[in-house]
Formats: sequence, structure tokens, C-alpha cells
Amino acid sequence: MHACFEKTGGPEVSVLAEVPVPTPKADEVLLKVEWTGANFIDNYRRSGLYTVPLPYVQGQDIVGTIVQLPSSGGDLPLGPLKVGQRVFTTAGHSFAEYAVAPAWQVAPLPDSIDAKDGVSLATVTLTALTLLREAYPVQKGDYVLVRAAAGGVGLVLVQLAKAFGAHVVGTVSTPEKAQQAREAGADLVLLSSAPSEENVKQIVEWAGGKGVHAVYDGIGKDTWEEDFLVVRPKATIVTYGNASGPVPPFSPLKLTPKVLKVTRPSLFPFIDNPEDFARYAREAVQLAQDGKVKFAVHKVYPFSEEGVRQTQVDISSRGTTGKLLIQVS
Ligand SMILES: NC(=O)c1ccc[n+]([C@@H]2O[C@H](COP(=O)([O-])OP(=O)(O)OC[C@H]3O[C@@H](n4cnc5c(N)ncnc54)[C@H](OP(=O)(O)O)[C@@H]3O)[C@@H](O)[C@H]2O)c1
Repeated sequence: MHACFEKTGGPEVSVLAEVPVPTPKADEVLLKVEWTGANFIDNYRRSGLYTVPLPYVQGQDIVGTIVQLPSSGGDLPLGPLKVGQRVFTTAGHSFAEYAVAPAWQVAPLPDSIDAKDGVSLATVTLTALTLLREAYPVQKGDYVLVRAAAGGVGLVLVQLAKAFGAHVVGTVSTPEKAQQAREAGADLVLLSSAPSEENVKQIVEWAGGKGVHAVYDGIGKDTWEEDFLVVRPKATIVTYGNASGPVPPFSPLKLTPKVLKVTRPSLFPFIDNPEDFARYAREAVQLAQDGKVKFAVHKVYPFSEEGVRQTQVDISSRGTTGKLLIQVS
């Protein structure tokens, strides 16, 4: 059984279909999926904002057990894998009972970590880590702004930016979300419903009167212009998502007055080889084991047509905090 769509559209185009167990390629493992989860990118693919081949099996991120090892053998940076071992992966087509993944793209999930948390160790934590380590490498003492600070990626960005020594301000849409962002460690949280000029003034004053060193913005269109007002000279705007729509085209001259850098990262190019995936996966597991990052779960959804569609409705609704999980088996 897997969830897929044959044409782009709203959540209603997702259907559950009976399918044979997939056959792994020589360098892939076959996984029995236990847990997966919704990511905002599901919407971009399903709606057609990001082009995918049709029909498309939905989802990315798996916690599951290895059913079949790769036939090609070879060393893996995270060590040898075993049948029956529980692993996590950022692999796609995860809304399925069985899925395949390149062997180098799966990481052992230690028994000390709850299986559900393994889903958040995949896209959410690896995204937050690559943003903080490479998109704008956060320095101790930096002032940074995290948009949608109570979202799936947002809550992890807040915790890790704090763990790496930054001062963190978050923006969120509701007082309940503000409370969650504060509990995650944000030093200041502002409501995005407040007048923009007020928020800009508060952020700039809080950040030493100069503005923040970096903005991590997954909202996109709606916050784009404000990002330019809250940063200090020589800052970096990390625009990493389109929750409100993609940012508009702009002239490089827009960067000149404050000599800014803008970067538009995506997780997968950062981890597209065994060594980088292993390095980030190891760090993610260590941070979870050290208690530096904890994962909030919005809700657990059943693996049914209705359950899958509801994840897509809910993650787009601005009503969720933390991770939306799907229990497959
Ligand atoms: N570049 C990458 O590799 C990468 C990887 C993972 C995720 N992302 C991006 O990171 C962002 C967060 O992803 P996520 O899966 O963790 O989702 P999420 O943050 O749990 O949900 C999106 C949040 O965006 C905010 N938002 C603001 N305007 C919105 C609008 N018009 N419609 C819907 N939401 C709006 C909402 O928070 P408030 O209500 O508090 O505003 C909402 O909760 C997304 O843009 C996603 O595409 C990028």
C-alpha cells in the first residue's frame, strides 16, 4: 500500500493504492516503514510548485526496519547495516508500507531514541543543522531571527541556534506558538500579526541596535521585505522555504545598501554523498542523545487515505506546531 497522486492539486488528489513491495537496486536497502511524517514540501510537490514525475508516491523521511540489504556490498561511513535493524532516512516515497533507500542514506537509530523522534532527526534536524552550519554558519554571540519559530523546522532551529551560542528571536502567528518557541529557548518571540514597523523596531533594538546577523526564513513571500529591514550590515538572509509563496525575483542591487548576502538553500545538495550524510546524521543523533534538541509532536495520524490527506490540510493551515507524524505500522 502507498499514498500517491496522479495529477497535481489539493489534498484530495492523494489516493491510497495497493502495490507490490518495491524491488531495491543493488546499492539500496528495502525498509519496512514504521513511521513517517508530513513536511511542508509535500504541498509544493502535490500542488505543482515543484515539478515531480507522475504518478508520484508521496512523503519523505522514514523510521523503519531493514528487510533486505544491498546486494552490492561495500563499506558505509556509518558502519555495516543488519537485517532487522531500526534506521532513519530522509529518503522519499515514504508514505508506504515498504520503501527503498540508498544504503548510504540510512542511519542507525539508537535504542535510546524513541522511534517517533527518528522522523524528526531526518529532514527537520538535518535541515536545521545544514542551515546553521553552512547556509549561514552561526557564531557564538550572534543575533539571529527564526521565522515560524514553532513549526517543525522552526522549533529545532531555535533549540540548535541556542545550543550553538546564538541569541534567538522568533516570529510566530499565535500566543500559543509564542509560548512553545519560548519553551524551546527563544530569548524573544514576536507575533507576526503585530504591525511590521513595531516588530522591526523591537528586533533591531534587541539585536544591539544594529539588527540581526542572520534571518532563517521558511515563510518566503510574506516576510521577504521585512527581512531586509531587520538585518544589520553584512548580514545573511537565508530564505529556505515558501510556506506563504516563493519570494519575488529581485535585483542584486537590493543587497547593496547593507552589503547583504542572500542564500536559497535546500537540504539535499548538502547531504548528497555518503560522507556528508553520515557527518550530519551522526551530529543529529548526538545532539538528541545529549538532550540538546527535543521534538514536539503535533499529532499522530493513521496511514489511511483520510489520514494522509488530513496531514496535508493541517500542515498548510498554520494551526500546527512541531511534527505531524504518520504511523504506518
Ligand atoms: N530548504 C530546505 O531544504 C527545507 C527543508 C525543510 C523544510 N523547508 C521549509 O521550511 C519551512 C517549514 O517547514 P515545516 O515542514 O517545518 O513546516 P512548518 O513550519 O511546521 O509549517 C509552516 C509554518 O509556516 C508559517 N506560515 C506563514 N505563512 C504561512 C502561510 N501563508 N501558509 C502556511 N504556513 C505559513 C506557519 O507558522 P506561523 O503560523 O507561526 O506563521 C506554519 O506553521 C517550509 O517553508 C518548508 O518548505 C525547507
